[in-house]
Formats: sequence, C-alpha cells, structure tokens
Amino acid sequence: MARFFQFFCLILFVLIFATSSANKKAHPSVGVIRWDAWNLFDGQYDPISFYSHRCLSPEKFHYRLPFFATVLSPTNTSYNEDMQSIMDQEILYAKHAGIDYWAFDTYCAYRPNCTTNTTFCAEYLQIAPHYCPRNPAYGLHQYLSSQYNSLINFTLLLLGSSPCDPTFQASYLELMVLPQFQTVFGGRPLLYLFQFTEVEAKLCGAGWSGSRDVFNRFRQMAINRGGTCLDFSIGLKNPYMVLMDFKVPTVQAHANLLGFDAISMYTLPGGTTEVSILIRNSLD
Ligand SMILES: *[C@@H]1O[C@H](CO)[C@@H](O)[C@H](O)[C@H]1NC(C)=O
Ligand SMILES: *[C@@H]1O[C@H](CO)[C@@H](O)[C@H](O)[C@H]1NC(C)=O
Ligand SMILES: *[C@@H]1O[C@H](CO)[C@@H](O)[C@H](O)[C@H]1NC(C)=O
Ligand SMILES: *[C@@H]1O[C@H](CO)[C@@H](O)[C@H](O)[C@H]1NC(C)=O
Repeated sequence: MARFFQFFCLILFVLIFATSSANKKAHPSVGVIRWDAWNLFDGQYDPISFYSHRCLSPEKFHYRLPFFATVLSPTNTSYNEDMQSIMDQEILYAKHAGIDYWAFDTYCAYRPNCTTNTTFCAEYLQIAPHYCPRNPAYGLHQYLSSQYNSLINFTLLLLGSSPCDPTFQASYLELMVLPQFQTVFGGRPLLYLFQFTEVEAKLCGAGWSGSRDVFNRFRQMAINRGGTCLDFSIGLKNPYMVLMDFKVPTVQAHANLLGFDAISMYTLPGGTTEVSILIRNSLD
C-alpha cells in the first residue's frame, strides 16, 4: 500500500496522444490526466488529497507544489484547488502550454468512513484502499462552470468497475453531449478506461465476454441518445474506447476481449529511478 501511494504521488500527469482527423491541426491532440486530489472538503483534506498533502509537505518536495499552494513551514503546506479562480488560471496555463484536453479521473464519491451504496464503488477500495474521496469531481465541476472552458476540451478517465453501473453511464452521456467533450475520428467521443482487470470484469459482466456486452450496450445508449424525431438533441457517434494499463501485452489482450478501439499505457519513459522501474516492469 505504501508503494501504491508513493506511485500516485510521483505520477500525477501522463500524456496521452490521440490523432484527430476531424480538425486539421498539424499536431496530434495532447491530453493530460487530471488527478484532482488537491482539495479540502468541509475544511479537511479530502481522503486522497490527504496523501498528496502529506507527500508534498516535506521541504525537499516543495518545488513540486502547485502554484496555488502556500508553504506554511519547512514541514507543512496548505492548498485547496476547489476554487473557481484557480481553475480559471489552470485553464489559461494549460492552453498556453498547448494542451488540447484534460482527462478527468472518475473516482466514486464516498460517504464518511469510506462507505458507499454501490457494489462497484465498494470494489474500487480493494484496488485502492483509503481512496474514498467525498468530492472527487470538484475539478470537473469547476471546469464546467469556468468562463474559459471553451479553451480546452475534456474527456473522462473511467476507473475500475463503476463504469458498468447504468447510473454512472447515464451521467457520462450527459457530459459526452457537451461541445467541449473531446472527440476523435470525425466526432467519436473519446473515453479511457483504467484499472479494469479480471476482478473488475467478473463484477461488471461475470467475465470478459459479459463485460464486452455491458460496454456494447453503453455504446448503443450513446448512439441512440435523442433518437426520436420529436427530440432535437443529436445522437452521439460510437464512443472511441481506449483501455489503459501498465503492460502492453496484457492491455492488448484485454482490449480485444472488451472490443475496445485502442490501448494506452499509464506510464511513459521518464526521468526518475522510480519511473524507470515502472517502465521496465511494463515492458516485461
Ligand atoms: C499544518 O498547518 C495547519 C494550519 O496551520 C495545521 O492545522 C496543521 O496541524 C499543520 N500540520 C502539521 C503536520 O504541522
Ligand atoms: C467512523 O466510524 C467510527 C465507528 O463507527 C466512528 O467512531 C468514527 O467517528 C467515524 N469517523 C468518521 C470520520 O466518520
Ligand atoms: C446512493 O447514494 C447516492 C449518494 O449518496 C444517492 O444519490 C443515491 O440515491 C443512492 N442510491 C441508492 C440506491 O440508495
Ligand atoms: C474541442 O472539440 C471540438 C469537437 O471535437 C473541436 O471542434 C474543438 O476545436 C475542440 N476545442 C479545442 C480547444 O481543442
């Protein structure tokens, strides 16, 4: 578990590339994962943010603090990203840096003491013990309410088995119809799925084949959206579903089983020893 937290403290941002034929830009669309774990909830660090705060508080890591943090002492820092002015500034910075879209992590929201009424969200705590935020979608909400949100697009990084829940699926569709939702290949909404392995496949659809059916039904929900002639909303194109994992052969095999469109690696070669170890492991 210690290693798990260490990992997430180190790897906060990962670049994802997806070519876009729809717009005639010369460069591939560049996306960045948003791991929104920098917030206070009811005046306390939200459970995931508790760990990011603890990791970055020692002085030797202060150079990695985000621009909105305050150094209180050599061993203590404070921040709360859940503010409109901060999100507005982040969008302007991201635009300036040439980022085309953000992929928002979709952690479940939990009640106090890590309780949840959803089997899928309960299962996620097996993957990531103590990752039970109260308000994990604060970043997405601040983005959606920002006056600058036309400057950068967004998509979702679906996590674990919760994307198999029809209620969550319906909430994704509400977001996928927005003009800022990132699309590829002539308007197909882009979606990533991460942390979906045998255990999640079993819970989702009693195995890989059943899970494929679950995601195919989700695709159909997107395509059929607003499909009646009295409804002026437009159906979506078939979602472009990307499976993300740590090892190429594994993710290839699983993406085939799920009928997904593409694969993605969570890690890319980087500078630190810790990351190099992850890369070597992922290429094994
Ligand atoms: C850090 O500062 C905050 C605000 O002053 C305080 O509540 C908290 O106890 C401090 N934490 C540590 C570990 O010193
Ligand atoms: C968690 O549950 C325990 C036992 O039910 C209780 O004593 C404690 O106050 C709870 N903590 C929070 C943060 O709700
Ligand atoms: C589960 O909890 C959420 C949020 O606490 C609530 O909106 C939802 O209605 C609950 N669902 C059930 C089936 O109780
Ligand atoms: C966002 O996506 C839409 C549709 O895919 C595209 O037309 C628009 O140019 C994109 N905006 C940015 C800032 O890349």
